[in-house]
Amino acid sequence: MKKLLVIHGPNLNMLGIREPDVYGTLTLDEINRKLNDAASKAGTELTIEQSNHEGSIVDIIQQAAGRYGAIIINPGAYTHTSIAIRDAIAAVGIPVVEVHLSNIYKREEFRHHSYISSVAAGQIAGFGADSYLLGLRAALKLVGAGE
Ligand code: DQA
Repeated sequence: MKKLLVIHGPNLNMLGIREPDVYGTLTLDEINRKLNDAASKAGTELTIEQSNHEGSIVDIIQQAAGRYGAIIINPGAYTHTSIAIRDAIAAVGIPVVEVHLSNIYKREEFRHHSYISSVAAGQIAGFGADSYLLGLRAALKLVGAGE
């Protein structure tokens, strides 16, 4: 199964306006366009979701079971707080690539811990919008569609 799911967590719908010095000036739509372009070049279909709500993200992950080969997720601030999202990832058993625009380890101490990374295949942080494209590349490898 080569289909991939991208999940953007809370406040990522504000990209472009939100702290551009930290997160860059691209909007979420612009990032999604880059992702869709890169995925179609790789011959893969993407579904892209964004939610500001923890329970909705849990629902999205649960509903991904059996439908997607891998998930690329930026859980936003839930990275640092959500055992529920962590447990949903562990429950569905789909390989997950955790991505962050910023390098969370260079920032405030409360961002240094991720509940997600222990259930993720790997994490990419600190490359701005390119973190997502690198995450896509990693996810393509995980489903056997990478170069
Ligand atoms: C983020 C980092 C988180 O600490 C923050 O709460 C976000 C975005 C990132 O992409 O760098 O919302 O996940």
